[in-house]
Amino acid sequence: MPKVLIIYYSRSGNTEAMAKLVAEGVQSEGIEVECKKVADTKLDELLSADGIIIGSPTYYGTMASEIKKLLDDSVRYHGKLDGKVGAAFSSAGGIGGGNETTVLDILKALMIHGMIVQGDPRGDHYGPVAVGKPDARSSEECKRRGTRVAKLLKSLQDKK
Ligand SMILES: Cc1cc2nc3c(=O)[nH]c(=O)nc-3n(C[C@H](O)[C@H](O)[C@H](O)COP(=O)(O)O)c2cc1C
Repeated sequence: MPKVLIIYYSRSGNTEAMAKLVAEGVQSEGIEVECKKVADTKLDELLSADGIIIGSPTYYGTMASEIKKLLDDSVRYHGKLDGKVGAAFSSAGGIGGGNETTVLDILKALMIHGMIVQGDPRGDHYGPVAVGKPDARSSEECKRRGTRVAKLLKSLQDKK
């Protein structure tokens, strides 16, 4: 059974709330999920997960340095994350505050690792975004992304 690891950084709780909602979506598909603060995540945990979802607040239009450090450190496993499923989410302070650019910056790193990233033709295209605390719309997007990652993992598993 595939396993999903959600890693996040959050100073005031908004990204953490998003992480829990994404986890709900994954769980709703019967897939095992672990939700961890980046500070509590060991680098080798990246290896054992089939899906890796990363959340960060938007800081100056991109990810927080704590998340960037994790990604920079992940070079140790370059080539070993190839084919895993990836996704990203972010909370910013305002509309137009850069939450989508943050999501894309995280996704770029996951794609450099060779990870599989799925867009969304109807929901938040790149990954769930919030302005501050996730409102009803963002909450649904978080759950939807978790569900979609879980469904993608199941379909990849079936093809093995
Ligand atoms: C250092 C720093 C930089 C920030 N830069 C931005 C920014 O570029 N755009 C924006 O909309 N909000 C910015 N914010 C606001 C946070 O993205 C926002 O408050 C977010 O919801 C915090 O998430 P958290 O509760 O998970 O920590 C910044 C906050 C801090 C502390």
